[in-house]
Amino acid sequence: MAASSWWVVAACVVLAAAAASSPAAADPRDGFTAVSLGDGNFQLQWPYDVESSSRYSFDGTVRRLWVFSDDKPFKPQSGTNPRTEIRMTGYDYSSGVWQFEGTGYVPSGTTGVSIMQVFGRGTATTLMLHVYGGDLWYYHQQVVETNIYDRWFRLNVIHDVAASQLTVFIDGRERLRVAGKGGDSHYFKFGVYMQTNPSNRMESRWKGVSILNKTYLGERNFQLQWPYDVKNSSRYSFDGTVRRLWVFSDDKPHTPRSKTKPRTEIRMTGYDYSSGVWQFEGTGYVPSGTTGVSIMQVFGGGKTATTLMLHVYDGDLWYYHQQVVERNINDRWFRLNVLHDVAASQLTVFVDSRERLRVTGKGGDSHYFKFGVYTQVINPIRRMESRWRGVRILNKNHATS
Ligand SMILES: *[C@@H]1O[C@H](CO)[C@@H](O)[C@H](O)[C@H]1NC(C)=O
Ligand SMILES: *[C@@H]1O[C@H](CO)[C@@H](O)[C@H](O)[C@H]1NC(C)=O
Repeated sequence: MAASSWWVVAACVVLAAAAASSPAAADPRDGFTAVSLGDGNFQLQWPYDVESSSRYSFDGTVRRLWVFSDDKPFKPQSGTNPRTEIRMTGYDYSSGVWQFEGTGYVPSGTTGVSIMQVFGRGTATTLMLHVYGGDLWYYHQQVVETNIYDRWFRLNVIHDVAASQLTVFIDGRERLRVAGKGGDSHYFKFGVYMQTNPSNRMESRWKGVSILNKTYLGERNFQLQWPYDVKNSSRYSFDGTVRRLWVFSDDKPHTPRSKTKPRTEIRMTGYDYSSGVWQFEGTGYVPSGTTGVSIMQVFGGGKTATTLMLHVYDGDLWYYHQQVVERNINDRWFRLNVLHDVAASQLTVFVDSRERLRVTGKGGDSHYFKFGVYTQVINPIRRMESRWRGVRILNKNHATS
C-alpha cells in the first residue's frame, strides 16, 4: 500500500482559507515558485499549410498570435478548429498545485475565440477562457471579466489537481473559482483557438508568461528545539539534504523552565491540524548505538502529550514501549509514513511502504508532527542521533478548507 496519488501536499488548505477571506489582499503568486522556462518550453501550433511567421511573432518580450476563421487546423489529420497557440511543454502535471501567469492583450474586434486553456480531460480541457464581444468568459457559460479589449491584463490561473479546483485572477483579483473536469495529465496553452461566432481575424498578445508550482514547506516550517544552554550547531546540522539531530542524555531541556528530558527535535509548524487526514513522510536513519529515544511523534493527546510516539530500543523501532513496529532499523535509510485520521482517531505507520502498525489515537484537539531525538526514560544511551531527509507533510481532506 504505497502512498498513492490522492495524497497531495497540503499547503492549499491554509492558503485557500486565507484567500477566501480577503480575495484582493494576497498576490496569487504567494506560496508559489516559478519553474525555469526556456524557448524549448514554448511549443507553437499554427495552421499547417502556412509559414509560422504569418501567424506568430515574438520580439523577445511580446508574443503575438493570430489566426483566421478559414485557416486550416494545426496538422493535416486534425479535425479541430483553426488555432495559433503555444502549448507549454516540460511541465505536464497530474498532481500538485500549478499556476499559469501571463499578461495578455486582446485587440478589439477579436471574438469567438479561446485565448487560454488548461488541458487535460481525455483529449479535452479542464478550463477554457474565451473572448466574446470584448468580455472574457469561462467557456461560453459565465463572464470572468468585462471590457478586456485593448488593454494589458495580468492573468493568473491556479489549478489544484487534488481539490479539482481552478481559480482565475485578473489583475490580482479573484474572478472565478470552478471545479475541474477531471483528466490525469494537464498543461497550459495560450494564443487563439477559434470557437463559435468567430471574427474573421483573431489575435491575442502575451508577455511575462510563467509557470509556477506550490512550494509546500520552507525552512520556516522546520522549527528546531535543542538544549537551551548550547549552540544549535553543536546538536544539529543540515547540508541542504540531510538533517542530523543529536542530543546527550545529560543535556539540558529545550527551554530553561521546561522539566522535560533532553531533546533535539524539529517541530513542524504551519500545519497544525484538528481535523482531516494528515500524513508525515520522511526518510530516516538511526546510527547503531542510539537507544532509549523517541525519533518521531504526533503531538496532541490531551494537553501536553502525544497521540503517537516512535521509540528506538536496541535497534528496533517501537510504538512507545509497547509494541515493535519494525526490526533492525539501525544504519539504514527507511521511509516512514505516518497517517493520522483525526475523525477516526486512527494512526497508521508504514515503513518502506509496508503497513506496520495501526493504532487508535489518544485524543487531543490540536496536532503536529515532530522528529529528531527526544530522550526517554528507559535506558537511554549517552549520545542519541537520528537523520532525516525528504520530510513532507501531506493532507487528504481538502474539504476542510
Ligand atoms: C515543482 O516544479 C519543480 C520543477 O521545476 C519540481 O522539481 C517540483 O517537484 C515541483 N513540485 C511539486 C510539488 O510538484
Ligand atoms: C541556530 O541558532 C542561531 C543563533 O541563535 C539562529 O540564528 C538559527 O536560526 C538557529 N538555527 C535553527 C535551525 O534554529
